[in-house]
Amino acid sequence: MTIARLSTPMLTDRLILRRWQASDGAPFASMNADPRVMQFFPRPLDRQTSDDLISRFQAHDEAHGFTLWALEERETGAFAGFTGLLHFDFAAPFSPGVEIGWRLPVAFWGRGLASEAARASLAFGLNVLKIAEIVAFAAASNARSRRVMERIGMSRDASDDFHHPKMPREHPLQPCVLYRIRPADLTKRPPNTTSGRNSSHE
Ligand SMILES: CC(C)(COP(=O)(O)OP(=O)(O)OC[C@H]1O[C@@H](n2cnc3c(N)ncnc32)[C@H](O)[C@@H]1OP(=O)(O)O)[C@@H](O)C(=O)NCCC(=O)NCCS
Repeated sequence: MTIARLSTPMLTDRLILRRWQASDGAPFASMNADPRVMQFFPRPLDRQTSDDLISRFQAHDEAHGFTLWALEERETGAFAGFTGLLHFDFAAPFSPGVEIGWRLPVAFWGRGLASEAARASLAFGLNVLKIAEIVAFAAASNARSRRVMERIGMSRDASDDFHHPKMPREHPLQPCVLYRIRPADLTKRPPNTTSGRNSSHE
């Protein structure tokens, strides 16, 4: 079976969304070791766990033609975290499905970069991959991430709120919110991808 996949990096005004490369390992581990970045996850990650995550993203890319892509700042070439699309792997009322996710080093927060990368990812997922619906979820207390979801046009229905099955009962990060977006919602607010977005059938 042929699958649509990202065959070249995707360019936005300020970012490149691309496949993972060896030089990402160190800055990715540094981001994952930062307690500010990992505030809404069980714990910061050690180097091995961080490297394993890159392998998981690469394997997902191989299998599905998309993943959580590495971000590179166009102006400086610096590693700027990840944004992209992933089949999520836990049982929930809204599974199976594809989620959009993001994680940036603190130095890249507050500039609209996560939203910029997310809009490009949504456009690729909904328009090129023809995914019928993309979801995003976060700990209910993760206000920054929820603002990204709202900024890129995703909608929340409180009846979708859920308890994350991978978190211990009564854990403060267990209550989660769910946001959704479908192709028709994109036309309300076009993505700010400028050039270089491409796909092929392999
Ligand atoms: C979630 C996360 C990616 C959000 O990053 P962010 O920089 O706040 O998000 P955006 O890229 O949308 O930037 C929006 C901010 O940039 C500001 N901004 C500056 N220039 C901007 C521009 N050109 N366009 C849009 N926003 C701009 C906005 O005012 C906004 O600031 P505010 O939230 O203080 O109002 C980041 O906090 C993060 O990596 N957190 C840790 C990992 C995590 O929790 N991931 C999500 C798990 S569900």
